[in-house]
Amino acid sequence: MVDAKLGNPVNEADGRIRLTVVGAGVMGIGIATLGVSRGLDVVLVDVDPAKAESAPGKVARELRLATLTGALDRDAPLGAVHATTSFDGAVPADAVIEAVVENAAVKLRVLGAVSRAVGPHVPVVTNTSSIPVDELAAGVPHPETVLGIHFMNPAYLVPTVEVVPGSRTSDAIEASASALLARLGRTGVVVGDGPGFVTSRVSHRMINDAIKIVEEGRASAADVDLLMQNCLGHPLGPLRTADLIGLDNLADSLAVLFDRTGDDSFRPAGLLLAKVAAGDHGRKSGRGFYPY
Ligand SMILES: NC(=O)c1ccc[n+]([C@@H]2O[C@H](COP(=O)([O-])OP(=O)(O)OC[C@H]3O[C@@H](n4cnc5c(N)ncnc54)[C@H](O)[C@@H]3O)[C@@H](O)[C@H]2O)c1
Repeated sequence: MVDAKLGNPVNEADGRIRLTVVGAGVMGIGIATLGVSRGLDVVLVDVDPAKAESAPGKVARELRLATLTGALDRDAPLGAVHATTSFDGAVPADAVIEAVVENAAVKLRVLGAVSRAVGPHVPVVTNTSSIPVDELAAGVPHPETVLGIHFMNPAYLVPTVEVVPGSRTSDAIEASASALLARLGRTGVVVGDGPGFVTSRVSHRMINDAIKIVEEGRASAADVDLLMQNCLGHPLGPLRTADLIGLDNLADSLAVLFDRTGDDSFRPAGLLLAKVAAGDHGRKSGRGFYPY
């Protein structure tokens, strides 16, 4: 029974896995959809009442989409999903995944509250794209429970994730995180901690450069994407990928990378910042480098 509960004795009486996801934005919805599709009971927590209210409907829509595209087995038993604006309904949990905005101060506040609420035995996973796990763990009561799992977007479609243990993450928590990933059908690749880990460090620099090329007028967004797709095998092209990520999140992640490394290639492109300021945040707002 303890194995079935991710090695965590909390809440084992009913035998169901209960996952709390904090942040009901692009990633929180995708991770919740993945959890529900694998039979986990998911509680989504978002400070924004409108986001919390719309979250179960969004998860249901993503589940339909995932079934239609063949990413989800039609007959698989689904878990339940609830959403709330407070932590009161979010504990006890067998694991918590934090997916709030890419801002270290906000994440530290959220992770501190989560760590206090769930105690020393529950994995506290951060889905940060770029903030070092040790930096986030340093501010919480139980740093040994914190580790990074960098789910990709959409979380229910991309089968591989980056796993980032911090220097203080315990072996027991790493084992629980592996059990969680097995339940979610994801393959984890364990990498070292540091700004942007592997994927954001490589891809965000490239996307920022692609935006600078559009800004310089050397090529249109569509032509940059066409070249990167058809010549270099990039699945979407960097500008469509930027729109999928969310331009606000991309700018925040680049700012973290620039701030933590001093590498000028991570300084967010002016065109990116202008689009964010104009409210053109990509797919989620209806317009970015492309209309949606
Ligand atoms: N977008 C991507 O493609 C992608 C991919 C991998 C990882 N990530 C990372 O995942 C995290 C979330 O990104 P996103 O794209 O979903 O962002 P998003 O802006 O779409 O959503 C963030 C959500 O967090 C909520 N929030 C803010 N403060 C909160 C708080 N104190 N408590 C609860 N909820 C709060 C917001 O209301 C919002 O709904 C970030 O760390 C990001 O870097 C994003």
